[in-house]
Amino acid sequence: MIDYKRHLVTAALPYANGPVHIGHLAGNFLPADIYTRYLRARKEDVKFICGTDEHGVPITIRAMKEGVTPQEIVDKYYNIINDSLKTMGISFDIFSRTSREIHKETSQAFFKNLYDQGIFEERESEQFYDDEKKMFLADRYITGTCPKCENESAYGDQCEKCGSTLSPEELINPKSALSNSVPIKKTTKHWFLPLQNYEPWLKQWILEDHKEWKNNVYGQCKSWLDSGLNPRAMTRDSNWGVPVPLPDAEGKVLYVWFDAPIGYISATKELTPQWSDYWCKEDTKLVHFLGKDNIVFHCIIFPAMLKAHGGFVLPDNVPANEFLNIEGDKVSTSRNWAVWVDEYVKDFPDMQDSLRYVLCANAPENKDNDFTWKDFQERNNSELVAIFGNYVNRAFVLMHKLCGGKVPAFHIELKDAADDALFEKIVQTKKTIEHCIENYKFREGLFAVIDLAREGNKYLQDKEPWKKAGQQELIDNSLHMCLQLCANLAIYCNPFLPFTALKLCNMMKVVDRMLDWENGGSLKLLKVGYALRAPELLFRKVEDSEIEAQVEKLKAGSAKAIGSVHSPAEESPEIKIPAIKPLITFDDFDKIDLRAGKIIAAEKVEKADKLLKLTVDLGFEQRTVVSGIALYFKPEDVIGKQVTLVANLAPRKMRGIESNGMILMAENADGNMVFVNPDSDALNGCVIK
Ligand code: MF3
Ligand code: ZN
Repeated sequence: MIDYKRHLVTAALPYANGPVHIGHLAGNFLPADIYTRYLRARKEDVKFICGTDEHGVPITIRAMKEGVTPQEIVDKYYNIINDSLKTMGISFDIFSRTSREIHKETSQAFFKNLYDQGIFEERESEQFYDDEKKMFLADRYITGTCPKCENESAYGDQCEKCGSTLSPEELINPKSALSNSVPIKKTTKHWFLPLQNYEPWLKQWILEDHKEWKNNVYGQCKSWLDSGLNPRAMTRDSNWGVPVPLPDAEGKVLYVWFDAPIGYISATKELTPQWSDYWCKEDTKLVHFLGKDNIVFHCIIFPAMLKAHGGFVLPDNVPANEFLNIEGDKVSTSRNWAVWVDEYVKDFPDMQDSLRYVLCANAPENKDNDFTWKDFQERNNSELVAIFGNYVNRAFVLMHKLCGGKVPAFHIELKDAADDALFEKIVQTKKTIEHCIENYKFREGLFAVIDLAREGNKYLQDKEPWKKAGQQELIDNSLHMCLQLCANLAIYCNPFLPFTALKLCNMMKVVDRMLDWENGGSLKLLKVGYALRAPELLFRKVEDSEIEAQVEKLKAGSAKAIGSVHSPAEESPEIKIPAIKPLITFDDFDKIDLRAGKIIAAEKVEKADKLLKLTVDLGFEQRTVVSGIALYFKPEDVIGKQVTLVANLAPRKMRGIESNGMILMAENADGNMVFVNPDSDALNGCVIK
């Protein structure tokens, strides 16, 4: 596919009127992220653009409900959305906001350009008006019965139940959302984009030139185009939004669906001075990711705007997804029937890849799909833990046990058909994933990764290196293959499960450059004789109690996050107690200065998800110690803990922080790290002997 010079990937800008839920993740952010990560791994020039959509009626309605200003709403939710998406590993190059100055300038200039070209039709029209509140009622300020599905709480622009796009006139029994009164009609002036003028061009561009677009997208466009386009107002009566940049436009703002997609352009401007390469050069491949309720805006209205303006590239594809239901029911923010991403990351810390996995595996790519907590648990436990995690763990444990912790040699003269078949599968899987991702079939691509791990388990089971005592060369060959497969799995899973890919790199002691896509399909990724680390827990089991708690929480509709109810479970029972080390003398031991201490401060080390920076009080002094325990403890959980410190260990710099000592740790039956703590009476700073 890649005959383009550069790529521009967008994910639909979420409204900053509430947190994002996993439906947004599954339909919009995650596929966009997988696609972008893949392109980056191929060293393509790519920019991934997103931000919050901070104008429009959804914001003002939320502000009304919470009794605060719209500005307070967007500030609050920008931060919540930004944090939760970053935590989930959604790797935007920029996550901007449509309330920024650069966006105001860009969208006003865009409007002015169309205005100066004489493109808009200026029209006086009758609009719904709330005579009690003395306000024009745009879009969502009007509710009523949907003419298509009879849902009684459809909005003036859209029915959330059946997904239809509506205009206020179509609603049966319209009511003002502000006062519940029956609205009257009043005259007002607006600027309309004559979409009908672009109809022939849109028909050619979409229906003829883009037959490859997904069926759901193509179908929606076709039905819009077949039923004929009408002029659409690009301005609104409101005091919240980008002011219309004309002298006689007091109290009027740009229609949110006019300004929001321009947000993609202003965010790119904010990101890079080269923004116009991405937006204006024909050899850019622009791809918009979004949910199905956004199709018409991205396929018809925004392209018509871009065409009217001139000089901009048009999307090459608009891979929209359908909706993700929750436990058999449509997501509803008003009923709080949703799984919120910010709550997930609190309830399941360090389990981003599990959610990424399940949402990708169940992505509503071609039809609405259902998320259930039971299915989350099952896929996590029986696919991630039992297949992927288990395979990697077995390969590493066996390598440590049977090959002295180093990558064993491959004795070519002993190569057999199973080795060839595995290699063939590794090469084939790479092609499959490429094809899938380039064609927006992310589920299928993900299944190819798991399939390869499954193949690895089978290979290992057939080879039985643990039964080959005395035949070291056979042991070596099978484990050599298995480890090279682990390295390939890291490359292949990276777009989908980036946290897992990094853990694998760490276990293999390779830098993340190994994840470059071009390295996939090779059996030379790990050097013979190279010492690898002990296996890490890649995935943990999800317990019944956790799932029950989530279903409970959903049903209770409670916005409160439940406490963390899980403990990382054992992934495989095969981890062995290492043998006792060679004897030492008392003098050897006496060189080690152990002291009792207490952790008095702890914080995460930036960009190192395993490290905590600790301050240990020794009574006579305070020490900074960097410790690799962040996967097991939150900073707030370790403050106040009594610990044993190796106090005379040579200082060592980790991530630019000098660590002065080491804290002794042990492992409990669940495979979790625990502190080796002196009796609580021990005096800080005392010698442990
Ligand atoms: N905020 C809109 C929604 O959540 C999406 C805006 S996408 C953009 O439905 F194109 F306008 F940016
Ligand atoms: Zn409806």
